[in-house]
Amino acid sequence: MSDEVEEIKNRLDIVDFISQYLTLKKAGQNWRSLCPFHKEKTPSFMVSRDKGIYKCFGCNRGGDVFTFAMEMEGLNFREALELLAQKTGVPLLRAKNALEYQQEKDEKSRLYQLNLLTARVFRKILLDHPAGKGALSYLKERKLTSQTIKKFILGFAPSGQGLEKILQQKGFTDKEIQQTGNPTRFTQRIMFPILDVMDNVLGFSGRATRADQEPKYLNTPETIIFHKGNILYGLEKAKSEIKGQDFAVLVEGQMDVVSSHQASVENAVATSGTALTEDHLRILSRYTQNISLAFDSDDAGQRAAQRAADLALEYGLNVKMIVLPASFKDPGEIASQSPKLWQEVAKSGIHVVDWYFQKAFAPYKQIGLGLDSLSKKTIAKQLLPVIKRLPDPIERDHYIQKLAKNLAVSERTIEEALGKVKESSAKQTKTTLPSKSQISVQKYLLALLLLSPDLWPKETLSEIFTEEDVWQVYKTGQKMYNKNTQRDFKQKVLSNLPSNLKTKVNFWLLEAEAKVKDSSKEELQKEINEIINRLENIKREKIKQDFAYKIAQAEEKGEIREMKKLIEQLSEAFKQEK
Ligand code: CTP
Ligand code: MN
Repeated sequence: MSDEVEEIKNRLDIVDFISQYLTLKKAGQNWRSLCPFHKEKTPSFMVSRDKGIYKCFGCNRGGDVFTFAMEMEGLNFREALELLAQKTGVPLLRAKNALEYQQEKDEKSRLYQLNLLTARVFRKILLDHPAGKGALSYLKERKLTSQTIKKFILGFAPSGQGLEKILQQKGFTDKEIQQTGNPTRFTQRIMFPILDVMDNVLGFSGRATRADQEPKYLNTPETIIFHKGNILYGLEKAKSEIKGQDFAVLVEGQMDVVSSHQASVENAVATSGTALTEDHLRILSRYTQNISLAFDSDDAGQRAAQRAADLALEYGLNVKMIVLPASFKDPGEIASQSPKLWQEVAKSGIHVVDWYFQKAFAPYKQIGLGLDSLSKKTIAKQLLPVIKRLPDPIERDHYIQKLAKNLAVSERTIEEALGKVKESSAKQTKTTLPSKSQISVQKYLLALLLLSPDLWPKETLSEIFTEEDVWQVYKTGQKMYNKNTQRDFKQKVLSNLPSNLKTKVNFWLLEAEAKVKDSSKEELQKEINEIINRLENIKREKIKQDFAYKIAQAEEKGEIREMKKLIEQLSEAFKQEK
């Protein structure tokens, strides 16, 4: 196995691989991006091509192509191995179903197969069977093409019995049917399979075909593979467009997604029968920081849009609102009736704060001097909290000016009013940025020394390296250094370390490189000296504390002579300092 892993790592460039998910920008010797694993506004996610590793200095997650594939796609190690083996063409010698196939994985992949088979049965019925005729002509009426139907594996569920028989014939047990949330529950419904980004079928949403059928949409219940709160319908098809266009269009329903994609708005996704959650945003933010919300035009849709916008703003994403032309009820309708128009509208999002402005001013015929004082107060009450929670000062200033102008009051007045808005109603944006540095000072120092061997201290530093790993690397470095091998010093030290330690040191180096990439030699020297001083101080403090403790103990026991001896030793040890 480890040969396969090594071979894959050799063939797969980590920068190319991660670029499929994130927009990497060159930063010194490394590449940098916003971290896909935690929310942040300034990029602290670094990728090193020559080291074959990535590391986020914000949330401290790091690893190689395997851990990245696992985290990003939610895979276990075996699944990541299969995925990357396929990408790189490295044959896996070990047969499938080998020991490391965990029970859970077997269980889940059975359920995926069951769901995929179900989806295909439903699709066949929709496209080829008399029972699906009505549903098919309904979808055609709604302008969906056969190609779109096939692409989204849309189907029709007539009644549950036929499906149950087929599943049993294919060897699926009743228990497994129950575990998928029992797809035989769907009758007389148009079926939308819901896939994850690896194209596994997780569950279904079934639309009623008759007006009296309740509910309008019936969804698979929560199962071990289907969690509504973290599924974005259509993401498996939209993800590359979202990354490419660097924004996602978030719509409310399946029909909106399907029609959008048919209309070439292929960066559209929807939450599936649930309100937007932080999990949805976390997943989306792997692909882009920009989302445009296109919710239904009815009151419920607009309220949902506002909630979603607030959540996304608080999450730190850039949020735009798409205002639908008045005659359309939802994006699906525009997309099917006028694909061209939808392509335009989908790009026409306005800043969420401008959207709040439009809404607040909409009931009034005029702006500025024409408004009476009560109207001004009402409008300000709606907009001040929105402005207050803008994290960016320039943006905030922009909207203070805009509000002052539109209300015909001074900017100072707005600022004063803003000061009075309670923090709670402004729901201050969470600043969850963790500390930037995660490695210890000792590791950081050692990494700096490896990076600039000409600054390697002539005197021995043994006293200050108390961490075992650091000490071992320092010892190796010291040996190499004495051999006068300053050329390729770092590589030589690395190649003399056991491989697990080498991996660790690569991470220290990555962090140190990121921190000092713009530093001059002088600054580096200064930084190194300061850290050495600091570590020496710590060491001295520790010695003093040890003495103080021993002296106190001797005193307690009345051992006056011992006490005197210790005090002498102490002043001897720190003689130079005075
Ligand atoms: N939904 C649901 N349960 C319901 C109604 C709606 O889960 N009883 C979810 C579905 O995911 C649906 C979305 O909410 O796609 C939006 O609902 P709605 O606007 O009513 O449906 P549309 O997708 O617009 O469907 P259509 O255009 O066919 O009316
Ligand atoms: Mn709708």
